Amino acid sequence: MTITIIPSEQGLGAEVKGVDFSQPIDDATQAELINAFSDHHVLSFRGQDGLSTDHVLAASRVFDERLEAHAFTHFHHPDEPLIMVLSNRVEGGGKPKGMRDAGTFWHSDVAYKPKPAKATMLYSLEVPHKGGDTLFCNLTRAYEDLSADMKDRLEGLKAWHYYAKLKRDVFESGKVTAPPECLHPVVRTNPISGRKAIYITPAYTTRIDGLSTTDSDALMEEIFEHCLQQKYRMDYKWRAGDIVVWDNAAVMHSATTKDLDPTKYRTIWRTIISGDDTF
Ligand code: SIN
Repeated sequence: MTITIIPSEQGLGAEVKGVDFSQPIDDATQAELINAFSDHHVLSFRGQDGLSTDHVLAASRVFDERLEAHAFTHFHHPDEPLIMVLSNRVEGGGKPKGMRDAGTFWHSDVAYKPKPAKATMLYSLEVPHKGGDTLFCNLTRAYEDLSADMKDRLEGLKAWHYYAKLKRDVFESGKVTAPPECLHPVVRTNPISGRKAIYITPAYTTRIDGLSTTDSDALMEEIFEHCLQQKYRMDYKWRAGDIVVWDNAAVMHSATTKDLDPTKYRTIWRTIISGDDTF
């Protein structure tokens, strides 16, 4: 396969042309994709219509062999538990076809476990003309732009992450039990590029370890305000048949599906690509 990588004009992410995920990906292409993933943090592949669940699993495995099923088992694809269905469609009898809103808040996937997700892949089956964008924020550039003093201050700090920090029906109803809080470094280093990125998010990070609540809240607020500046942001506008994969240690993201028009359908398959212990 000959591939072309076109960096996004928004300064984060790149579109990859020339990949067909209904075909096996050769070793050279896989190596190029892994490098592009490390450089750009968010990769999109348009026009991948008609993929099966197996194709989407194979596409995910290009970035790491290890995949994991999401804790919300009631939203697993009926034939493939490694795929979670995100959808605002409702089946006969009122049963949701998928999870309507996977997270309209800034977060990094699976940061609430000791081994957070390396990457997340989404494959869009249907999307509305307007609405339902996925928002990304470049935590690598945000880190690099910090003052030397702030970098020194963050060096060696760790923070606690908790899935149920924000109230959600699944936790309130006892349908899902959030895992115990876990600790990660506030700054992580990309193993391929060596670049550092901030690793705290408004949705899951509860506090910076070793600081008083007041100091921890103030530091987190300062960091989030810095990260969420427009210059670090990219809004992804979906078309049906898109695959998007992102590096959870380099970006945080937010869905915008909380208030999506219920008459305009959005159905997406989602996989979680496993990661390692953080250090
Ligand atoms: C997610 O947060 O994993 C899903 C994002 C989306 O539905 O746009």
